Amino acid sequence: MSTQPIQIQPLSQPVDIGDEIASFSADVEREIDAHLAKYPVMRSAILPLMFIVQRERGYLDAPGVAYLARRLRLRITDIWEVATFYSMIYTEPVGQYHIQICKTLSCKIMGEPGITDHVCKKLGIKPGETTADGKFTVSLVECLGSCGTAPMFQIGFDYHENLTTAKVDQILDSLT
Ligand code: FES
Repeated sequence: MSTQPIQIQPLSQPVDIGDEIASFSADVEREIDAHLAKYPVMRSAILPLMFIVQRERGYLDAPGVAYLARRLRLRITDIWEVATFYSMIYTEPVGQYHIQICKTLSCKIMGEPGITDHVCKKLGIKPGETTADGKFTVSLVECLGSCGTAPMFQIGFDYHENLTTAKVDQILDSLT
């Protein structure tokens, strides 16, 4: 039997985000305080606070992450783990319309590759990119919980379901 000590790896690595901490108006601070007051455990407010920081800064940037860590008394890594798990939290800047195309099984079987292709050709970008005018970003994301109406994508908070290329044209043309 081996007597070698077992090396336990940490579940996540520390994240270096620099020294800047975001600041917000008194109104936004009051909104944040109101959310914090709803929860007996401070860290439970992490998602509502992330949405506020994202709304105010356009995406969850490094100073926004530092702010959340300070307000919630959590490690930077704790904030980062949540931010990178949810596709509705953006850790990079996105365009005015963020098109998140579901790439998971039901959508894949029901035609997601053709939809993705069509969206990208129409906008002249690849998944992960933003159009030069900053209007559209296309991302491929995991299941958005609307498998029964596949294929689908989400733009902002709106779901667009049972997509066809004609329907995609209609949706995108209404946004240009
Ligand atoms: S597989 Fe696309 S919404 Fe679930």
